[in-house]
Amino acid sequence: MSVGKFLSFEDLSDSRGGLVSYEESRNIPFHIKRIYCIYNVSHNAERGFHAHRKLEQVAVCVSGSCTMLLDNGKEKESIVLSTPYKGLYIGSNIWRVMQSFSKDCVLVVLASELYDESDYIRNYDEFLKEIEMGSR
Ligand code: TYD
Repeated sequence: MSVGKFLSFEDLSDSRGGLVSYEESRNIPFHIKRIYCIYNVSHNAERGFHAHRKLEQVAVCVSGSCTMLLDNGKEKESIVLSTPYKGLYIGSNIWRVMQSFSKDCVLVVLASELYDESDYIRNYDEFLKEIEMGSR
């Protein structure tokens, strides 16, 4: 995988049940300013269709499963998320689409910035233009 990167989290589960911990600057490579959750998504719904100019994120599927399609303008990857013990790091300037949500999917996203609509690139041609300009 080269567009996204998997992060592994220690399984702290014991006979009483599951436990996993996400800590900024320890197992998450940035300061966590925001956490949001995506859940109750119908199986045929697709979300995302955007990139971020600055934001970094780690997406963790704490229940069920979903598929993340990543695209850096040159390479594309399809990644299945299905465990709380693995997070997908998504850096800036990566186009993403989320799909194939299971009924019980809860996708937790740890984000390096507060919500800011001006950080979104929601048009694919604009995304390609911005990364082309950035690589000059
Ligand atoms: P969006 O990021 O477009 O959703 P997805 O990528 O999952 O398809 O967000 C949907 C709406 O929710 C949009 O109007 C922005 C708003 N929103 C917030 O207000 N705060 C947030 O932290 C997020 C992620 C979205």
